Amino acid sequence: MDPIKAWQDEHAYFRRLLALLQRQVDVFHGGERPNYELMLDIVSYLREYSDQVHHPREDVAFARLAQKAPELALSLERLKQEHRVMANAGDALKELLAEILDDAVVPRAEVEMAAATYLVYYDSHIAKEEEDVIARAARALGPEDWAAVKNAVPSVKDPLFGEVPEERYRKLRRQIAQEA
Ligand SMILES: [Fe+2]
Ligand SMILES: [Fe+2]
Repeated sequence: MDPIKAWQDEHAYFRRLLALLQRQVDVFHGGERPNYELMLDIVSYLREYSDQVHHPREDVAFARLAQKAPELALSLERLKQEHRVMANAGDALKELLAEILDDAVVPRAEVEMAAATYLVYYDSHIAKEEEDVIARAARALGPEDWAAVKNAVPSVKDPLFGEVPEERYRKLRRQIAQEA
């Protein structure tokens, strides 16, 4: 699989999920109850796959690219830092959603804010990578670099977008199919 295509494909998947999450955040404005379960599934998947697989691989790609294109080093360092921020923000949002589903009293504004912040952050992060990094990496990195990127984490199957989605993401998968 072409590593650049795989990279862009994953961004496309994440964007689909972010659009779904955005839809739920919009529900807040209508004063209705969003689908908290769906929101939790989305953030759980992003915590699981994006934070554990996609981002560690990018971190290796960034480090290799920074060596070959030192003028990008600072922006790559920022993107790497954003990975940590996003993991934290995702964790906080996930906890809030889990509390709500557990019938705890959580102010709606708090969840709305956490979800909206997460979305803004994620969207701009992916946009920066698409605009500033991927084309550059395609030119600068070679097969050895891509092997290192892939090996940054043990090979795992994508539990949602992979060929055989896991049972726990079945509802989310159905929701995505409906949007297509
Ligand atoms: Fe990233
Ligand atoms: Fe990314």
